[in-house]
Amino acid sequence: LKGRVVVDRDFAIGDLDRRLFGSFVEHLGRCVYGGIYEPGHPTADEQGFRQDVLDLTRELGVTIMRYPGGNFVSGYNWQDGVGPKEDRPVKLDLAWFTTETNQFGTNEFIDWCRKAEIEPMMAVNLGTAGPDEARNLVEYCNHPGGTYWSDLRRSHGYEEPHAINFWCLGNEMDGPWQICEKTAQEYGRVAKEAAKVMRWTSEGLTLTACGSSSREMSTYGEWEYSVLDEVFDHVDFISLHQYFLNNENETDRFFTHIDNLDCFITEVVAIADAVAAKRRSDKKIMLSLDEWNVWYKARSGTDMKQENWPEAPSLLEEVYNFEDALVVGGALITMINHADRLKTGCLAQLVNVIGPIMTETGGPAWRQTIFHPFAQAANLAKGRVLRLISDTPTFSAGEFDKAPLLLSSAIHNPETGQLTILALNRSPTEEMEFAMHMRGFPDMVILEAFELHHADLKATNTKDNPDEVAPSQHESCKLAEELTATLKPLSWNVFVLK
Ligand code: AHR
Repeated sequence: LKGRVVVDRDFAIGDLDRRLFGSFVEHLGRCVYGGIYEPGHPTADEQGFRQDVLDLTRELGVTIMRYPGGNFVSGYNWQDGVGPKEDRPVKLDLAWFTTETNQFGTNEFIDWCRKAEIEPMMAVNLGTAGPDEARNLVEYCNHPGGTYWSDLRRSHGYEEPHAINFWCLGNEMDGPWQICEKTAQEYGRVAKEAAKVMRWTSEGLTLTACGSSSREMSTYGEWEYSVLDEVFDHVDFISLHQYFLNNENETDRFFTHIDNLDCFITEVVAIADAVAAKRRSDKKIMLSLDEWNVWYKARSGTDMKQENWPEAPSLLEEVYNFEDALVVGGALITMINHADRLKTGCLAQLVNVIGPIMTETGGPAWRQTIFHPFAQAANLAKGRVLRLISDTPTFSAGEFDKAPLLLSSAIHNPETGQLTILALNRSPTEEMEFAMHMRGFPDMVILEAFELHHADLKATNTKDNPDEVAPSQHESCKLAEELTATLKPLSWNVFVLK
């Protein structure tokens, strides 16, 4: 197979927003308790934050973190999670049928973000709560002082405002599983009013309205149009959520979730622009893929729900294999290639719950297979995304007749001069002779070249064998007239030039 790509330094899709490499921490299973927070763990600091998880989070290169949900936020009273820990109420969480101790809340999350050097992305409850609770939370977090809510924060030991910029107006409000789901009209109205009072409380906020919970929702399209028609002047972003399933265990079909994501992003951009066109507005609503990942193994029975309202049980603990890492890599390429409109993304979630990091409570933490493509993209893809012209063989699977076997992106950092190329060979059987013709990049050298490949698609990383699937040096990458490399069948490849 041959895959040829042309790249020109002057032809760009757009600037890559670093917030594309976000993740998500929800009060769900062992994501908070036993994940980022575990007082008594050998690596825990004075606040109970696991340093092994913090170190892996930094290594992952995460830039922004969504919190506290997810489905959880739609029943959450944020006041339960602030103030002296001994006074915090223990409550039932109706999203995951567990007991929430509230020992971790907004202030702990902000402290954790500061330690991790990650921007917080806060979601407000528009399920059981509404604009009033949302604006109170904004006042608690962002107002300097001299009012009830801001002085309450100060009395809790936080003299300076948290200055949280990025806020999500609810979560998956189109879903029947959501606490207090809404129609598009109901949600549009409440999101608009919440946005108004939140902005009046704190200037300059960035706000995201809920889009569809997936491209497969029966209300998809209609939902985006109706919601944006209502909130257009009041928000900056519309969200997208997409999880990739492989219940049929068919690799080629599994891969087409990447193409599905590509369609999803293109369609939501079109709908947002249709709402703008109706108003004769040049405002561009940006997209936030604020939940995405592979998720299909830990998705039923006791993986989703256990009896008797347990505290922080093991839920949604998906063990990722090599095949999943390829799909995550392909999704990242697709996201990067939509850099003009897709500005934020959150890999859902960070730890234990469908996460790139796995821990044992009381024990070690390790990198799941999907950790690697994410970390490489987050750490190496910086700058402007260039528009590639690709000549690639195709395959047919699922809804797609001509899906490209080669997926690639090129990101150029004008400040450092670094050019990063990400390439996925989706052929299950054949090597691909990859060639990139580069215009406007004289005198480059190869700085680094990696591949992620394993003979067994189902190989996993475990506590006892945490590096079974890990990147290795690329053996065949050369730079002469063109950049060339042999891409193994089913492989993720990264080349860094300067
Ligand atoms: O990430 C797990 C769950 O998936 C989230 O709580 C919800 O928003 C989505 O359905």
